[in-house]
Amino acid sequence: MIVNGNHYRTIWMQNETVFMIDQNLLPFEFKILESNAYKDTCKAIKNMNVRGAGAIGSAAGFALAQAFLEAPKATFWFYINQAKADIEATRPTARNLFYATNRIMQASQMTNNPKMAAVIESQKIADEDVAACRKIGVFGNELIKENYRILTHCNAGWLAFTDHGSALSPIYAAHRSNKKVFVYTDETRPRNQGAKLTAWEFHNENIPHKIIPDNAAAFLMQQGKIDMVITGADRIAANGDVANKIGTLEKAICAREFGIPFYVAAPSSTFDQECKTGKDIIIEERDQDEVKYIAGVDTAGELHNICICNPESEALNLAFDVTPAKYISGFITESGIKISS
Ligand code: MRU
Repeated sequence: MIVNGNHYRTIWMQNETVFMIDQNLLPFEFKILESNAYKDTCKAIKNMNVRGAGAIGSAAGFALAQAFLEAPKATFWFYINQAKADIEATRPTARNLFYATNRIMQASQMTNNPKMAAVIESQKIADEDVAACRKIGVFGNELIKENYRILTHCNAGWLAFTDHGSALSPIYAAHRSNKKVFVYTDETRPRNQGAKLTAWEFHNENIPHKIIPDNAAAFLMQQGKIDMVITGADRIAANGDVANKIGTLEKAICAREFGIPFYVAAPSSTFDQECKTGKDIIIEERDQDEVKYIAGVDTAGELHNICICNPESEALNLAFDVTPAKYISGFITESGIKISS
């Protein structure tokens, strides 16, 4: 991604340091966060400084590579197994996280230099994520017609991957091939990744868009103002059920009601063949304060976290929902479009 004239990946590793764009500060501040130890990289995943399927995968791979570099000789594999468990506990719904840790374990066990193998494999995972997302853009662009008005939910853009994005990659490809597109961006409560991150990406790329409240999409669909929906995915079960940001399910049901194609864009690393159906997907529950408080800036540009509800009430914060395969028109992947059966 190009920001202020410079090319950035969302996350990268140099020597033993992991660098990541701090997504908790966007769109108000663009800052690179550095982590020098696997435990700090875990914290960054848990606190969502880095978030989104592919970016979490790269972060998990780099975190485990850091653990290999840190591990004391005497307790080497004990340290590594503990690190793997810590990393996998950070965001349990995210398939890419497990995909990365498993690949690194396999690569490191097949060599007599596990440290170097872990580092090399982590870089490969990040590079493959970039390549897959670029191809998703190429294939997804074929589905987008001139003047399409597209709805997207949450942030499945550059920031959610190592680069390019999944759901937004076809939109960027369409825009670059001079098609006129317009995107409705769900704000995506509770953390507002749509209003903050997707809108920031679109503004940066000059993509015409409007942020809409989470409860507006059904009415826009009924009015014939949405031509297609593209979302990302955090885990895709073997039967095609999709876990994605909470609120995706209701968009899919509405799209079916109004005859609008609903596509899910994801690299093969998000598909989980061992998970039979959506019922087997663990749904992460996050802190209730994410629902009760919101971060934003005042007119002087000062960042505040303010309470937006009755402070004494409790809130429920399920981070994802599961959309049954029957609502999905097709999957946009790095190997082409797979039409849902
Ligand atoms: O909780 P997040 O922000 O990590 O949620 C993940 C998402 O951004 C979405 O669910 C997205 O559509 C899939 S990940 C590209």
